[in-house]
Amino acid sequence: MSKLLVCFLIFCNVALSNSIWYGQTTFNVLQFDAVGDGQTDDSEAFLKAWEALCGATEANDTGTPTLVVPAGKTFLLQPIKFSGPCKSNSVHVQILGKIVAPNTLLAWKECKEFWISFSEVTNLTINGTGEIDGNECGKLLQAIHFYKCDYLQLRGLKHLDSPKAHITINNCNNVSVSNLHIIAPEDSPNTDGIDISMSTFVNIRNSTIGTGDDCIALNNGSSHINITSIVCGPGHGISVGSLGEDGAYETAEEVHVRNCTFNGTKNGARIKTWQGGSGYVKGISFENITLIGAKNPIIIDQYYCDKNGHNCKPSASAVNVSNVIYRGFQGTYANEEEAIIFDCSNTPGCQNVTMNQINITSTLDPGKNISAACKNVNGTFDPAVPCSLWAYLHP
Ligand SMILES: *[C@@H]1O[C@H](CO)[C@@H](O)[C@H](O)[C@H]1NC(C)=O
Ligand SMILES: *[C@@H]1O[C@H](CO)[C@@H](O)[C@H](O)[C@H]1NC(C)=O
Ligand SMILES: *[C@@H]1O[C@H](CO)[C@@H](O)[C@H](O)[C@H]1NC(C)=O
Ligand SMILES: *[C@@H]1O[C@H](CO)[C@@H](O)[C@H](O)[C@H]1NC(C)=O
Ligand SMILES: *[C@@H]1O[C@H](CO)[C@@H](O)[C@H](O)[C@H]1NC(C)=O
Ligand SMILES: *[C@@H]1O[C@H](CO)[C@@H](O)[C@H](O)[C@H]1NC(C)=O
Ligand SMILES: *[C@@H]1O[C@H](CO)[C@@H](O)[C@H](O)[C@H]1NC(C)=O
Ligand SMILES: *[C@@H]1O[C@H](CO)[C@@H](O)[C@H](O)[C@H]1NC(C)=O
Ligand SMILES: *[C@@H]1O[C@H](CO)[C@@H](O)[C@H](O)[C@H]1NC(C)=O
Ligand SMILES: *[C@@H]1O[C@H](CO)[C@@H](O)[C@H](O)[C@H]1NC(C)=O
Ligand SMILES: *[C@@H]1O[C@H](CO)[C@@H](O)[C@H](O)[C@H]1NC(C)=O
Ligand SMILES: *[C@@H]1O[C@H](CO)[C@@H](O)[C@H](O)[C@H]1NC(C)=O
Repeated sequence: MSKLLVCFLIFCNVALSNSIWYGQTTFNVLQFDAVGDGQTDDSEAFLKAWEALCGATEANDTGTPTLVVPAGKTFLLQPIKFSGPCKSNSVHVQILGKIVAPNTLLAWKECKEFWISFSEVTNLTINGTGEIDGNECGKLLQAIHFYKCDYLQLRGLKHLDSPKAHITINNCNNVSVSNLHIIAPEDSPNTDGIDISMSTFVNIRNSTIGTGDDCIALNNGSSHINITSIVCGPGHGISVGSLGEDGAYETAEEVHVRNCTFNGTKNGARIKTWQGGSGYVKGISFENITLIGAKNPIIIDQYYCDKNGHNCKPSASAVNVSNVIYRGFQGTYANEEEAIIFDCSNTPGCQNVTMNQINITSTLDPGKNISAACKNVNGTFDPAVPCSLWAYLHP
């Protein structure tokens, strides 16, 4: 009888190997033999923990299945992919310790586009007081990538030194990002803070972002995006685009940036499109913006070109920019030229651009009245900002 029971138990465990965590809803990576010494590759342990988490069902009493990365330890991960869909209708990943990337080029096992990616996980929450450190000198990968993760929530973490963009969100709807701290050196190229593409209903708030590139970039397919209470700098500002590279049809709409600060950034409120593209950028607003020595606080650049082997000849077509509002800008900018640049393409140009309550002064020449360099732009500037055609604008 007891032999039978033992047999049965063994059979059960083998046959339902995924269910040995039955009823459990908290999965600490240490249970799965993660070491956490910052040297050992803990990727396999994390994948096992993920499998258990993703296979768990939501139990009434214990709540949402949660993967715990404990405090006081440092976990080394190689490029890793966490895939859904998961059984439970929501999953949590609580990061209290540190996750680090291999810190030399040779230490990376494989060359992928992303270091850590989450794919097709609905209702995923990643929160905690921990850190995700991309270690900068690894291969050129984006640090954390989310693909098809509807109802994604990211909260509280510190993201450091990604080799490329820190957080990329692609094909995700109804996303909330808050209380993050993203830091990379000012001179590290392409280290965007947060990149959004093909995603709608995204809320990003109360975060500080200082990197070597855009603090936040809204790329193709971004719509209904609210960005509130972000302190950006150093970096290249908050950018809609770049859009229309290599003749592409691309769009961005309903992007609202409010109560944000640009501190020592190269740009502030920026819209950038390539020559020769098509599509549109419309319904964009930047309101209640504080500037602390931002170089180009307001800029629409329809001649964007990163010069990396691109043919950037002026073209007859460009992504259409319209219905853009800049309201309530205060503080200082650091530019000997114009504070405001609207360098719009000949056709169709930039239509219905509103500037309202723009009260900014130059750190280099505090007595100077603000003015704008304008080409092919249409709209309402209130109070009137002198708008003139400047030699350095494109022909
Ligand atoms: C959840 O609670 C209900 C009512 O208390 C109970 O009938 C059901 O069996 C529970 N489900 C699970 C998975 O525990
Ligand atoms: C997301 O998860 C929460 C519980 O954490 C649940 O109440 C909610 O219904 C889920 N939403 C969806 C769309 O599954
Ligand atoms: C993470 O979220 C869960 C569920 O909302 C919550 O219980 C937990 O306290 C949060 N942890 C941190 C560190 O914010
Ligand atoms: C996302 O949120 C918006 C606005 O709250 C809502 O209208 C929409 O139905 C949601 N999307 C999905 C896929 O539930
Ligand atoms: C904003 O983020 C900071 C830093 O993460 C946090 O201390 C503060 O409580 C957050 N404020 C709100 C309103 O969430
Ligand atoms: C963005 O803000 C507007 C106005 O405050 C609000 O109506 C809208 O629902 C918000 N959108 C999202 C995605 O939070
Ligand atoms: C921006 O800040 C002001 C003043 O603190 C506040 O009244 C307003 O609600 C904030 N706007 C948003 C979108 O949070
Ligand atoms: C602006 O950035 C400088 C240099 O990083 C920093 O010392 C200062 O505290 C920042 N100011 C604000 C208001 O964040
Ligand atoms: C801008 O700030 C003013 C004053 O703090 C506030 O009343 C207003 O609601 C803010 N506007 C937005 C769009 O947040
Ligand atoms: C101009 O843009 C504003 C703000 O996006 C919008 O409300 C208004 O309808 C636009 N006007 C025209 C004529 O398109
Ligand atoms: C413009 O900003 C300066 C400095 O912050 C302030 O003293 C002045 O009252 C502001 N003017 C208007 C019209 O808001
Ligand atoms: C500005 O608006 C006027 C009147 O609608 C139009 O004729 C002109 O072409 C517009 N210019 C640009 C650059 O869009």
